[in-house]
Amino acid sequence: MSFLSVEPSSKSDLVSYPIRDIVQEAKKIENSGTKMLYLNVGDPAPFGFRPPKHILDAAADALRQDYSGYAPSAGDPELRQTIAKFEKVSDDDVFVTAGLSEGIDLLYQAMLDPGRNILLPSPSYPLYITKERMGYGTMDFYDCDENYEPDLENMRKNINKYTKAILVINPNNPTGAVYSRKTLQGIVDLAGEYKLPIISDDVYDQMVFEGDITHMRDLSKDVPVVCGNSLSKNYIYPGARAGYIAFHGEGWGNIKDAIQRLCNQRLSVNWEMQRAYIAALKGSHDHIHQFNKELKVRKDILMKRVNDIDGLSVAAPRGAFYSFIKIESTKWKSDSEFVRGLLKYGVVVVPGSGFAPNLNGKYFRLVFLAKPDQLNYAFDQIEKYMKA
Ligand SMILES: Cc1ncc(COP(=O)(O)O)c(C=O)c1O
Repeated sequence: MSFLSVEPSSKSDLVSYPIRDIVQEAKKIENSGTKMLYLNVGDPAPFGFRPPKHILDAAADALRQDYSGYAPSAGDPELRQTIAKFEKVSDDDVFVTAGLSEGIDLLYQAMLDPGRNILLPSPSYPLYITKERMGYGTMDFYDCDENYEPDLENMRKNINKYTKAILVINPNNPTGAVYSRKTLQGIVDLAGEYKLPIISDDVYDQMVFEGDITHMRDLSKDVPVVCGNSLSKNYIYPGARAGYIAFHGEGWGNIKDAIQRLCNQRLSVNWEMQRAYIAALKGSHDHIHQFNKELKVRKDILMKRVNDIDGLSVAAPRGAFYSFIKIESTKWKSDSEFVRGLLKYGVVVVPGSGFAPNLNGKYFRLVFLAKPDQLNYAFDQIEKYMKA
């Protein structure tokens, strides 16, 4: 007997990743001869940014030493200790994960039952939306204002009896917003009032090129917070696939047990890259100043070009390398239509609706890691497209 076709599970039908989904369409157009500039993925490597040498050296050294076995499931003890010092928690509060992506997956598996929700920002990094869908969560969002700061009143309105935690992404993907201390304090107060823990996605926390950043972990006091981070962005090493989650405050005991079990069943994270992470945390952080300087140059180009184009507007990013640009023009019915049309002009960006199903308005996310001349070229093309 032979099968005609093997059907995917209904759960897998719930998965989408708009940042990469658009690439298939771009490739089709590229294959017919149009040169493409990919500004859809937040990966510094294609634009010439490299991890600091001492991190690469530590990875290479580890390959020559004896790290060929399974690492302890919760992470290399020295790495856990180094992270714990960095986060100001104890070693047992730290779990090493395959990038923060796996940390997010473990948190969803440990915390979310069907019919519950982790309250997400709108817009939000799409992995959270997918995890919420796959966990059959209720998909609740809080809005952000025109400067992309969380709207606390709206957050209050959207907390309900099914809410299990509040997610904060600071600096934010997709907006580049860096939240004020006052806003963060407001979120902590709300979480305290409703007895909810906070998930703080800090994956861009050193990439702030304008002003300072307040860390959620420094404000939380009685409110339990779990912070996530990785080698990917702050240390320009996304291919390493090493990250962590660190639990702050009281009340996490059972969740930590659950996370430990989830770590055990997937055995371990690449050990050599964990050794590289130790070098990253202990070594020089000089690279980040240079990186932030480069990002600021690009942000200035972005702001000038968007302001000069009729029909677009954007709130200035202050961190990370994302801009969430509003399509004010009524010429396009949806942001997907706008983004698909732009592919013919050789520029790949991501429709804003991929970052929040309930978004009010049309947006696209543009990654501004490209070299200044490439970025200017992208805006020349966007301008041509919008005038056509
Ligand atoms: C906000 C945010 N969180 C988490 C991640 C996952 O990062 P990684 O798995 O590479 O550590 C990303 C990746 O782009 C992100 O933008």
